Order: sequence, then structure tokens, then C-alpha cells
Amino acid sequence: MPMLPGVIERYREFLEVTDATPSVSLGEGSTPLVRSRSIGDAVGCKNLYFKLEGCNPTGSFKDRGMVMAIAKALEAGRTRIICASTGNTSASAAAYGARYQLETLVLVPAGEIALGKLAQAMAYGARILAVNGSFDQALSAVRGIVELMDIELVNSVNPYRIQGQKTGAFEIVDELGEAPDFLCIPVGNAGNITAYWKGFTEYQSKGRAESTPRMMGFQAAGAAPIVLGEPVARPETIATAIRIGNPASWEQAEAARDESKGMIDMVDDNEIVDAYLRLAREEGIFCEPASAASVAGLLKLPELGVDVSGKTIVCILTGNGLKDPGTAEKRALVELEYVEPDIDSVMNLLTGGK
Ligand code: F0G
Repeated sequence: MPMLPGVIERYREFLEVTDATPSVSLGEGSTPLVRSRSIGDAVGCKNLYFKLEGCNPTGSFKDRGMVMAIAKALEAGRTRIICASTGNTSASAAAYGARYQLETLVLVPAGEIALGKLAQAMAYGARILAVNGSFDQALSAVRGIVELMDIELVNSVNPYRIQGQKTGAFEIVDELGEAPDFLCIPVGNAGNITAYWKGFTEYQSKGRAESTPRMMGFQAAGAAPIVLGEPVARPETIATAIRIGNPASWEQAEAARDESKGMIDMVDDNEIVDAYLRLAREEGIFCEPASAASVAGLLKLPELGVDVSGKTIVCILTGNGLKDPGTAEKRALVELEYVEPDIDSVMNLLTGGK
């Protein structure tokens, strides 16, 4: 076991675990909540924090939920797990599957998942089925397969995934001493916004927090079914993690939005890339494009008529920038400067030959 408790041990009393539940951890959770140095002032809120979920063992928030799903799958005597994924769920399932010797099967949309995520699933030794179709089609296939085979479904339609992911909300309240006013979060399959809302409301009902935040969810403009009010057949966005046209937790996300007096809106790819580069260059935080949708959304709040002055806001940065090196390479627009390896050549280059 890791030295720091994983989320099951840390929040055991809030999770459905018993003495029969095996102890499972890869050291997930307890991720940094980092104060903004620049963007917060630019939007004019009181406090802005980024929750760095990319610091989880496989580089995304999925580990919080996966650890619970795996513990319960082991408890139930399962030997196989399956998921559909835009990349991060498959990386997480493959890691925990490897650690606990579960046969792991992942279905991903062919050619549409970021390189780092695919590399992870390969390294951890999962069996990878690249489907000729979308994430939504892959998930629908997986939901059919689990009816026919003895295999555990570890997508967020598995309630234990949501249970584990709600611990992100607990950590924020534990660290700030209260709930923030707003939580900004990217929305894809809509499991995470559901989980955070569950976490905040549970903490409030147990007396750990006085209030709950307004849930501000952001979809990518080319993949915004909840905003448009209908499924999107061919979702398209640079943020491949949230390229989803028919989210499984659609209704729960709307409930989180409505009960919290929040909103679910959309940000386009230019806004996502702009936020992604600002996070890297003004805050020193490299997240993946889907994660930057939370900050792109925050930057848009004043324009959407939301007053952020005096507010404490947390943006969930769901995944690590290293997951998607291709986007950084293409969109950061930095040219390599080639030079001979001697002092004169380097000095010449730096001084422009003067
Ligand atoms: N951010 C990242 C980095 C993600 O990987 C995902 C979802 C989301 C945000 C959206 O979270 O689906 O709970 O609304 N990734 C899933 C996957 C779909 O397969 O890895 P959500």
C-alpha cells in the first residue's frame, strides 16, 4: 500500500465499503488545490483555485472512481473488467486491472484518442479494441456485452465510480474549510459533475459544509448535447476526452445544474485552446484540452451575465497535459531553434549575431 491513504481509506465512512471489501489503492486522491496567480485577478473573482486531478496515479480524475469500482468488482469475485473510453477511463481501468490481475478490455474510438492515453493502456497490458465509430457507440456496445458475459462494467454508469469520484468534492471542502461559491468543471459523459454534486450535498447533509457551490459545467461547442437539448450524432472538438454526443449521466447532470442553481454552457475550441495555453503560460499548469474547458468557461462567465466578484471559485483540471502531447505540439506554436552545440553558435543565435 502507498504511504498516503488512497481515497477509500481516507473517506471510508462515506463509501459503501465493508470488511469484505478488499483494500485497493494506487495512491489516488489528495491532489493539489493550487491558488491562481493570474487568471483569478483577470476575471475579478476573490479566490480562484485549480484542482490538479492530473496528479492522480494515471494522470486523471478517473482513478478516484476506478479504485472503488475495482474494489467492489474484486469483492464480487469478478476476474474481468470492461469499459468504453475516450482514453482516460481506459488508462485508469488498465492500471488498476494490471495491479489487481483483472483481465481488462477497453473499447476506444479508433484514431480519436490522445497518444499518451493509448500508450498507457498498451503499457499496462489491456486488450484494446479500436472501434470504427464514436465513444457513444462504443459505450452502447459495452452495455450490451455486459449483459452477455461475466464481466464488470467500469464506466461511470457503474455507481461505485460516482461514489469514488465524489471524494474530489470532500477534499475541496476539507482544504478550504468550506464549499466554494462556484465549481467549474468540464462535462463529457457527465459522470464527474454528477459525482461532485453528490459529494458536496452529502458533505452538507453530514454537517461538514454549510453550503454547496453552484455547479458550472462546460461542454465543448461541437459536442454539447446538454446545452442543445438533443444528442449530437457526430461530436467534434479538439478536446477528445469530451467528444461525446449522448452522455450517460445526462439527467443527473441537469439535476446537479438545477438543484445548485448552476449552469451547463459551452466553449468553442478556440476558447479551450486559449485557456489551455494561459494555464500553461500564466499559471505553470499543463492540463489536457478537455480540462481547460473549465477555465474557458470561467473566463466566459462575465459575458454570460454571471457576477464573479467576491466569489471563491474552484476549477477542476481533470487530466494531465502530458496525456495529449500532439495538441501541445500543434497548438503551442513554438518553433524549435536548431543550433550547433558550441558556445559561439549559441551566443550568436541569442544575440542575433551582434
Ligand atoms: N476531462 C477529462 C480529462 C476526461 O477524460 C473526461 C471524460 C472528462 C473531463 C469529462 O468527464 O465524462 O465524467 O463528464 N473522460 C471519459 C473517458 C469519457 O472515457 O476517459 P465526464
